[in-house]
Amino acid sequence: MDRKKIAVVFGTRPEAIKMAPVIKELEKNQHHFDTQVIVTAQHREMLDQVLKVFKIEPTYDLDVMKKNQSLSEITISVMKGLEDIFLKELPDMVLVHGDTTTSFAAALAAYYQQIPIGHVEAGLRTYDKYFPFPEEANRQLIDNLADLFFVPTELTKKNLLNENKPEANIFVTGNTAIDAITYTKSLKVEHPLLDKLTTDKKWILLTMHRRENHGEPMRNVFKAVKRIVDEHKDVAVVMPVHLSPTVQRLVKELLEDQDRILLVEPLEVDLFHKVMSRAYLVLTDSGGLQEEAPAFDIPVLVLRDTTERPEGLEAGTLKVVGTEQERVFQAINELLNNEKVYDKMSKAANPYGDGTASIEIVSVLMNFYAD
Ligand code: UD1
Ligand code: UDP
Repeated sequence: MDRKKIAVVFGTRPEAIKMAPVIKELEKNQHHFDTQVIVTAQHREMLDQVLKVFKIEPTYDLDVMKKNQSLSEITISVMKGLEDIFLKELPDMVLVHGDTTTSFAAALAAYYQQIPIGHVEAGLRTYDKYFPFPEEANRQLIDNLADLFFVPTELTKKNLLNENKPEANIFVTGNTAIDAITYTKSLKVEHPLLDKLTTDKKWILLTMHRRENHGEPMRNVFKAVKRIVDEHKDVAVVMPVHLSPTVQRLVKELLEDQDRILLVEPLEVDLFHKVMSRAYLVLTDSGGLQEEAPAFDIPVLVLRDTTERPEGLEAGTLKVVGTEQERVFQAINELLNNEKVYDKMSKAANPYGDGTASIEIVSVLMNFYAD
């Protein structure tokens, strides 16, 4: 095959973490692929942390992030920035990930130049266009533009088949999040935070950032967490606080200066995984954490009303608990008090593959271009 130019486009922390293994794998096959890493920097500090851990130097950096940016602002700057790069570089394929606004805008910009699109982590659905917002619309729109679909599981493949996507172009690869964990586990991590996570306490790892949870849902959850900490002297919370100004304000309002609630800056992903491995349970509205925590045998309570990751529910590693205060409080209490329930959740199998998703994705690309 001729050498093909593959543009890998991403902009936020989770995309970077899950695309990094794909980039590494493409770079191992340099004689077949000229890999161009294009970051939009929809996130700045949180993206740079990932690039540092995975030692990735972008070919292009659009640097679009603004404080309190709107969805339209991101879309417009990403599309215009990418149009210029695509016209200059003429990539053979554009790879995008998941469901962010960067990914949607990149897919649309590629489509306008009639460049084939590979969608990594395709096929996730809630079929409720406002939950999560705007991610559910983003991923459906991307899948309407994509040519190759790299889906994490059989169930996500089924979603695409139900939408009449061509079976020959759908590849079940597992989730590259697990590949990323294999890498971070190989790194030696030392940090003063790890000394603070003493073993005499059950540590709850809390993250929350989704736009649809801004406001009352977040307040309700934080109140439930405070009640838990007040009632259980052997329980403590560690929360890396997302840099979204709205999240920062709500955390400040309700969780600052509380005993046994440790608020920290966003952590580099290798340290974050180490912290997760020491947690008793994970309380989160994050998508990525629902995939990662089962790989560490940690139960996850999902702070949403629906999830696009029902595989974790089926396997028993996740419970969807919404954001209503009493329900969240009771769900945490159950995991703290009922050993049977805890053991069942923590021992459930991880449904997201064996850490070879990026190898499989690159091998599909090789076959796609084989003469
Ligand atoms: C975005 C994605 C969401 C993903 C999340 C992962 C969209 C619409 N949303 O949401 O799907 O789950 O990232 O974290 O694509 N900020 C900084 N520094 C950073 C990152 C963010 O200061 O490194 C602040 C900025 O003020 C920015 C704001 O956070 O305007 C919100 O960032 P944005 O990417 O728009 O939304 P997220 O909530 O992070
Ligand atoms: N993560 C990280 N540092 C942190 C919190 C999370 O590196 O302080 C990682 C986490 O391991 C996962 C990803 O960021 O891989 C999840 O990102 P986020 O929750 O922001 O987005 P989502 O997955 O909800 O899109």
